Amino acid sequence: MTVTIKTSEEQDKMRVAGRLAADVLDMIGDYVKPGITTAELDKICHDYITGVQDAVPAPLNYRGFPKSICTSVNHVVCHGIPGEKTLKSGDAVNIDITVIKDGFHGDTSRMFFVGKPGIQAKRLAEVAYEGMWLGIKELGPGKHLGDVGAAIQGFVEKNRFSVVREYCGHGIGRVFHEDPQVLHYGNRGAGMELKAGMTLTVEPMVNAGRRHVKLLNDGWTVVTKDHSLSAQWEHTVLVTEDGYEVLTLGANDR
Ligand code: MF3
Ligand code: CO
Ligand code: CO
Repeated sequence: MTVTIKTSEEQDKMRVAGRLAADVLDMIGDYVKPGITTAELDKICHDYITGVQDAVPAPLNYRGFPKSICTSVNHVVCHGIPGEKTLKSGDAVNIDITVIKDGFHGDTSRMFFVGKPGIQAKRLAEVAYEGMWLGIKELGPGKHLGDVGAAIQGFVEKNRFSVVREYCGHGIGRVFHEDPQVLHYGNRGAGMELKAGMTLTVEPMVNAGRRHVKLLNDGWTVVTKDHSLSAQWEHTVLVTEDGYEVLTLGANDR
C-alpha cells in the first residue's frame, strides 16, 4: 500500500482542482429541473469543464466509463451513466464530478432534488450529508481511518438506514483512486493512522433499506438490491497539521 504525502506545492494544486470540481456542482444545480435528461446534464458539465475551466473530466474513458460525470438517480447507489433518462419531479439525483487540473484530481458529489422531494428522500439525503461531515470531522494527524468509518456507521445506523460496504472513499492526487481505501464503516482506533499531507475522499453511500447492492449489466451502474432509495455526498479533504481542510467546499458550504 503506497499512500502519497502531498508537498505544499502539490497541496496548492489539489486546492485548485477541488475548487474547480465544486464550481461545476455550483453551476449545474440550476439545470436540475423536470424534463432534462441526464445526458444533457453530462454535456453541460463536460463543456464547462473543458471549455471554461480548461480542465479534464476524469471519468471520461476511465476504465472504459463512457461519460464525463456520474448521475445516480433514486435507487442507483453510484456510477450511474448519463443517458436518455428524463428527470421528473420527485427524483433525487447524485451528481459526481471529478476534474483533473494541472495533473491533480478534485472529486466531489452532492444530492439534488428535482422539483419537490419526497419525505424519505429528503431525510435520507440529510442523514448521508450529516454522516459525511461526521466522518470528515474525525480527520487529523494521529487519527485512524476506523474513526471515520465508525463515526459514519454509528450515525447512519442510529437513524435506521444502512451503509454500503462494497464501495468506499479513497486517497486522491495525481491518481484518481489511490491508497488508502476509506471505508464508511468500521471500528474506532482501527485502520491506518493518518498523517498531515494526505488527501482523501469521504463519500458515504447510504441506503433507506438494506445495505446490499447489485451491479447492472452495463458494468457500471450500482443499484440497491432491494430497490430502496440511496443517497451519497462526497468531499475531497486534506489532512493538515491540526486537523483537516475540505478542498471541495461549494458556495453553500462556505
Ligand atoms: N467519482 C467516483 C468516486 O467518487 C468515481 C467514478 S469512476 C467512473 O470515486 F468511472 F464511474 F467515473
Ligand atoms: Co471519489
Ligand atoms: Co466522486
